[in-house]
Amino acid sequence: MPKPGLIGKSISFGIGKNRQTISIVEKIAKGCFGSVWKACHKDQTYAVKVVGYAKMDERDKKLLANEVNCLREITQPASGIPGIPRYYDRYIDNDNGKLYIIMQYIPGKTLKELGDDVDKLAVTRSLLQIVKKLHKAHIAHRDIKPSNIIWCAEEQQAYLVDFGFACQIKPNEPIPDIAEFPVGTPYYTDYVTRKLDKIRIEKRLKPMDMWSVGVTLYEFWVGKLPFNTACIDSADDIFTIQKRNKIYTARTKNKIINAIINELLSNNAFCRGKARQMSYWSYLETSDILDVLSEDLFVCKLPPEQLEKLIKYVKR
Ligand SMILES: Nc1ncnc2c1ncn2[C@@H]1O[C@H](COP(=O)(O)OP(=O)(O)O)[C@@H](O)[C@H]1O
Ligand SMILES: [Mg+2]
Repeated sequence: MPKPGLIGKSISFGIGKNRQTISIVEKIAKGCFGSVWKACHKDQTYAVKVVGYAKMDERDKKLLANEVNCLREITQPASGIPGIPRYYDRYIDNDNGKLYIIMQYIPGKTLKELGDDVDKLAVTRSLLQIVKKLHKAHIAHRDIKPSNIIWCAEEQQAYLVDFGFACQIKPNEPIPDIAEFPVGTPYYTDYVTRKLDKIRIEKRLKPMDMWSVGVTLYEFWVGKLPFNTACIDSADDIFTIQKRNKIYTARTKNKIINAIINELLSNNAFCRGKARQMSYWSYLETSDILDVLSEDLFVCKLPPEQLEKLIKYVKR
């Protein structure tokens, strides 16, 4: 009986001593342009993203080239960003118009598949750490959502995957043209900030990522999206909901988490929490804040205006 798709296919990559031949063993997921497969060589596992580029338009080809370059650059050991699958190589098959991206396989479930039986705070902290480091490296991911985050329980580490829309804007360097491409996934995209085209793109991308983190975390903690999806037919409807601030307030049992989520779902992108601040907040305990409130102890090293903001949230 023939095996489905690419199962059994061998792919060789690397050069010289590092040349390896891996064999595809299992399909992991199917996406819009391609699919992701698990591959093995002896006891090593790999993830292989297979993308058909032949029918892509120029815009999508640019994004694909960018995905490979971005992943290659940020997963260099020197860049030191944990939580991103390591890139090994890419292989182009011109005969069938396919590109294979060979990367580290991350065992685990995506946030979409994770149940309640997980340490949600650990997942949240780990995700915020990754975004903090990415933003520090001037990279916006532009497609943060539950299906692009894998929780590796063994390492207690979240991994952010799918750099198909990522964009790096280094200071004092020309802005790449992909920066202006309107990419993202409905529900998780900050359409209000996307439309603020009088404000330079490099000022908007990171806050837009933080909105996506906010929607993702709300859904992860509360179990549904932070707005009424029944009345949404198009991206314009999402824009209107956000513009009119018809966003639900997070009210989980964890007050710090509520503060983080509500801060991220602020519809003013430029007042919204940054990854570095939100990551810091996620390591505080509510009792730290209550100490501050009751005994006027300055137990946390937050700058005063941030502390004030956080106290307001916790008091609610
Ligand atoms: N490195 C990886 N290790 C394990 N699973 C992965 C890896 N990369 C992606 N996946 C899985 O494949 C799915 C699709 O991959 P992704 O890069 O998001 O493709 P697409 O661009 O089609 O969304 C992800 O949701 C995740 O479940
Ligand atoms: Mg994806």
